Amino acid sequence: MKLLTQTLLLCLALALAHRNTDHDDDHALPNRCDGIEFDAISPDEKGVTYFFKGPYLWKGFHGPAHPSNESFQELDDIHNIGHVDAAFRMHDAENLDDHDHIYFFLDDKVFSYYNHSLEEGYPKQMNEDFPGIPDHLDSAVECPKGECGANSVLFFKGHDVHVYDISTKTVKTKTWDHLPVCTSAFRWLEHYYCFHGNNFTRFNPVTGEVNGTYPKDARAYFMSCPNFGHGGDYKVPKCSEIKIDAITTDDAGKSYFFAGPIYMRLDLHRDGRHAFRITKSWKELTNGVDAVFSYTDKMYMIKDDQVYIYKTGPHYTLIEGYPKNLKEELGVEGHVDAAFVCSDDEHTVHIVQGKKLLDVDLTATPRVVTQEWPLPLSDIDAGLCDAKGIQLFKGSHYYHYDSVATLTLSRIAPHPEDITSEMLSCQD
Ligand SMILES: *[C@@H]1O[C@H](CO)[C@@H](O)[C@H](O)[C@H]1NC(C)=O
Ligand SMILES: *[C@@H]1O[C@H](CO)[C@@H](O)[C@H](O)[C@H]1NC(C)=O
Ligand SMILES: *[C@@H]1O[C@H](CO)[C@@H](O)[C@H](O)[C@H]1NC(C)=O
Ligand SMILES: *[C@@H]1O[C@H](CO)[C@@H](O)[C@H](O)[C@H]1NC(C)=O
Repeated sequence: MKLLTQTLLLCLALALAHRNTDHDDDHALPNRCDGIEFDAISPDEKGVTYFFKGPYLWKGFHGPAHPSNESFQELDDIHNIGHVDAAFRMHDAENLDDHDHIYFFLDDKVFSYYNHSLEEGYPKQMNEDFPGIPDHLDSAVECPKGECGANSVLFFKGHDVHVYDISTKTVKTKTWDHLPVCTSAFRWLEHYYCFHGNNFTRFNPVTGEVNGTYPKDARAYFMSCPNFGHGGDYKVPKCSEIKIDAITTDDAGKSYFFAGPIYMRLDLHRDGRHAFRITKSWKELTNGVDAVFSYTDKMYMIKDDQVYIYKTGPHYTLIEGYPKNLKEELGVEGHVDAAFVCSDDEHTVHIVQGKKLLDVDLTATPRVVTQEWPLPLSDIDAGLCDAKGIQLFKGSHYYHYDSVATLTLSRIAPHPEDITSEMLSCQD
């Protein structure tokens, strides 16, 4: 199991609901920034996290409340009691018919949804599907094998946690008196959170152990509320206003962009797309970055006249002796706008500086600029090169070139294209 010690700093959901301020009924909806004790929290099959309270839900970490029955109609139709006790998303690698379904618990009934449709045969009595689990639950959360001993679900009621093994249908009950009563529980990016009141406490799903300073206020972490927290200052920008500092894809296929103090991972889907402080993963980079490129199993991060080289892996580790001076490390002086390597076979990093493109041979010692080309563009923010060609980002636009040769031979800039929400999770 991965025990990450970093604190979750901020998070932003991809799906952004727009508050329609013209709408007269809006005042009737609850506001989660008032401090809400949620009934249940669960992601759906697309990685959108749902927060439930009474007959309302919130989709993702931004946006207003909606009536739950718009998204999960039968919860309301059949019971008309206007709330859920608990919900979780199933992780069942052995039975793909159930995998990624959302299960809801109301009193002694269970509902299984996929793609927001109620599955045939539901609702059922809880003991048909989950024998040995008490009804009128407080909360539930998935716990996949690797994090728990087997693919399991943790069901909370009072201070008892019933650990349900999905394949053997056996239950082990533990009592975690040191944890608050969890009115909702949530697994997110391999961590486990017990929500109580407007607070949450992170716990180890096997031992119940709580490390670090808890409780914390959920409004500073799982939603974006004015005057709360960390990073709440990062607003998902409009695509027409976005400006990034750097972009890269590492050896392992992890894709990132960097903007001011934050970065966003572009290739994680099951839990949605989220922005974090750069210092969460690269703790020495306290002032952001100017340019980033990946070469072999390393990430080169340039800020002012310093180069930080990190070894990639489950975590990024700064290589001993770094940061080093840019001139010493790459043979380049002055501000770097963007940098990219097209393939590891090429051993050349292309550095954009003003209206110039500099090639640096990464196998040479010491490294020196081997070629210099004039560019038809200036004020580039970031650059990426992959099998599809080169993208040079400038403000809310990007320029596409098929190859370094077409870039260096062209005398006029191609037509700028708009950055889309698909590319960088900005708001359309
Ligand atoms: C949801 O519930 C409200 C209040 O009971 C009702 O007016 C509305 O028609 C319902 N909407 C749907 C889509 O079922
Ligand atoms: C999901 O539901 C939508 C709308 O009901 C439907 O158009 C789509 O085909 C469904 N997708 C799957 C994978 O079942
Ligand atoms: C939330 O946490 C604060 C301290 O961080 C505490 O004062 C407050 O009582 C907590 N509320 C609940 C409902 O746990
Ligand atoms: C909790 O923190 C202690 C001390 O830092 C550490 O030894 C232990 O492994 C941590 N446990 C968990 C579950 O993170």
